[in-house]
Amino acid sequence: MPFGLVSAWNKRRRSKSEDHINPWIYKPVEFWQLEDQNPPAKRHHGSAVFTLKEMEEATCSFSDENLVGKGGFGRVYKGTLRSGEVVAIKKMELPPFKLAEGEQEFRVEVDILSRLEHPNLVSLIGYCADGKQRFLVYEYMQKGNLQDHLNGIGEVKMGWPLRLKVALGAARGLAYLHSSSSVGIPIIHRDFKSTNILLNTNYEAKISDFGLAKLMPEGQETCVTARVLGTFGYFDPEYTLTGKLTLQSDVYAFGVVLLELLTGRRAVDLNQGPYDQNLVLQVRHILNDKKKQRKVIDPEMSRSSYTMESIAMFANLASRCVRIESIERPSMAECVKELQLIFHTNSKGLGMTMHTFRMV
Ligand SMILES: Nc1ncnc2c1ncn2[C@@H]1O[C@H](COP(=O)(O)OP(=O)(O)OP(=O)(O)O)[C@@H](O)[C@H]1O
Ligand SMILES: [Mg+2]
Repeated sequence: MPFGLVSAWNKRRRSKSEDHINPWIYKPVEFWQLEDQNPPAKRHHGSAVFTLKEMEEATCSFSDENLVGKGGFGRVYKGTLRSGEVVAIKKMELPPFKLAEGEQEFRVEVDILSRLEHPNLVSLIGYCADGKQRFLVYEYMQKGNLQDHLNGIGEVKMGWPLRLKVALGAARGLAYLHSSSSVGIPIIHRDFKSTNILLNTNYEAKISDFGLAKLMPEGQETCVTARVLGTFGYFDPEYTLTGKLTLQSDVYAFGVVLLELLTGRRAVDLNQGPYDQNLVLQVRHILNDKKKQRKVIDPEMSRSSYTMESIAMFANLASRCVRIESIERPSMAECVKELQLIFHTNSKGLGMTMHTFRMV
């Protein structure tokens, strides 16, 4: 019988194991593969183990010049390994009261990511666990996160075909997680958002941050959690109210990202008035109104890059993804199919060549 990694880890924490006596005694990832594993873990990458010295060398002792970003669990640095490979190194930094939580995220990330392989998921190259210090080493994504591009920090203004390409890449990554093809049972990401969609030099989208991910026990469609985890603006209302976590919670978050791509606005914008801070609440009622749709299209987007037909199809898909009732939302596999159609509709409408069609 397969076990959810997280529940297995909790169980392990509860047991009178050596871990319980001293949680900081480090054990290699193989020891976290607990009890029965079905099917056996795939292990293509993610297994490299680095020393603290290697992490320091790679980042010039975590110099500010190498700092690429900062998140809730620590800073991310650009680094160069001894092999010459350029990587992103996440240094986990947590206040003492959050250490256990951070350690759990670290283990989940290493264990899940090292078993996954998909062009739309950020690859984990390895990790470092030295004393209480924890680092995750990822493939380096040159163009950073999607949110920065939508907020004008990126170097190019994203036209509609590029936004569709990013949406499609992210949808494929999530569909792969939700299918059983990755580890034998579906995985819920739980923290899907525009800062967790990273872009490489060709603007190919890859999903990152699996620290909150949960494996869905076989045959089960719902998982009840004690605490609601994730990020404001992306919370599935059903999950928030009941604690019932489903694959459809990721679909809701995906719908929010679609709305960010369409409008260029943030999922939560505290600079707006009290009724306009939440993007879904702000635009939901007009998504299926063809006349009003125009008002919400990102003004930064070139008018020559989109057809209104493809915008209408996209807005309709987004509106279904953010439905309050999770059962009414499409699956990620359906989102992939619809986005392919939307991309082709747009390319055809603009009279683009076959080459563009092959882009996705
Ligand atoms: N593999 C990577 N390659 C390049 N840049 C990265 C990589 N991973 C993360 N980053 C950059 O570092 C930033 C911080 O990442 P991190 O995952 O720590 O936080 P976040 O996703 O922004 O927020 P949160 O902690 O709430 O998830 C990202 O937004 C991104 O710009
Ligand atoms: Mg992140």
